[in-house]
Amino acid sequence: MIAHQDASSSFINSLVWVPSFSFMPILCLPWPRAPHAWTKSKKTLAKPNVRNIVVVDGVRTAFLQSGTSTFKSGLCKCKSTSVPKEVVDYIIFGTVIQEVKTSNVAREAALGAGFSDKTPAHTVTMACISANQAMTTGKDTVTKDNGIRPSSLEQMAKLKPAFIKPYGTVTAANSSFLTDGASAMLIMAEEKALAMGYKPKAYLRDFVYVSQDPKDQLLLGPTYATPKVLEKAGLTMNDIDVYEFHEAFSGQILANFKAMDSDWFAQNYMGRKTKVGAPPLEKFNNWGGSLSLGHPFGATGCRLVMAAANRLRKGGGQYGLVAACAAGGQGHAMIVEAYPK
Ligand SMILES: *[C@@H]1O[C@H](CO)[C@@H](O)[C@H](O)[C@H]1NC(C)=O
Repeated sequence: MIAHQDASSSFINSLVWVPSFSFMPILCLPWPRAPHAWTKSKKTLAKPNVRNIVVVDGVRTAFLQSGTSTFKSGLCKCKSTSVPKEVVDYIIFGTVIQEVKTSNVAREAALGAGFSDKTPAHTVTMACISANQAMTTGKDTVTKDNGIRPSSLEQMAKLKPAFIKPYGTVTAANSSFLTDGASAMLIMAEEKALAMGYKPKAYLRDFVYVSQDPKDQLLLGPTYATPKVLEKAGLTMNDIDVYEFHEAFSGQILANFKAMDSDWFAQNYMGRKTKVGAPPLEKFNNWGGSLSLGHPFGATGCRLVMAAANRLRKGGGQYGLVAACAAGGQGHAMIVEAYPK
């Protein structure tokens, strides 16, 4: 869940606490390929007269297999920024299934977390990209994730198809499991963050939302959103150092890669002249993705952005591309730029 990046919103002047993250050191694969293989671009996406918005930090609860455990204090325990609660101007949370007794969970969470009752809060919902929506509208992990399921190829091959029996190819091994979890992010105008003595982690740059036919292109959001966000930012795939895509199913990621790498698809479905190309695997979801870590629908967006930001910092890259699909045939992509060290 997160906040507006729209320069016209007034609260952009200071802080937005965007609840919905953290990365899993546990699952981190060794940092792949030498960073020197990356194209180092010199330019930045800063625009004249547009305020730079930075991610100060993000946290998330553990991601748990749905219903296996209850969160006691969750995000409140994560002490990462110790931002004074009274300086937060606005709070936005993403959620997916609204609980019927709670009309505005952002407000409940804010009051529960001890924020000032003078800080307004609103809730947004956009299926699996609710957190992205919360981010664009406005680390310490408490316990260990329990959804990571070490397995072997032999074990996985024995699994029964989840949907279409007996011929389907989607199994528990390559679907994101039903997950309980939450994440939060602190977003501020750059000058405010610096004035308060924070060291921002990344800039949130251009973003897009797309939607297409939910019948046969349900989860192809990243395919549609990627070329658009690159164009908006004036970047190409070669400029991107880290990719963080939400993985609903491995088949969905493979379908996106195929579509992204097809001139035919670009011309016949997207009204584009040429394909954008598929992301290189060595830059793709290197620290685990929704398939291994889990996917709490309302929280994944912040996890993706924080993973991109942390990977950029670790590997010395400059630009990250975050993309996700969502139920209803919607999709999202955003460019994350590393904050200069
Ligand atoms: C999903 O995993 C099963 C084995 O559990 C495998 O047979 C199938 O090919 C995989 N599908 C994709 C799209 O990766």
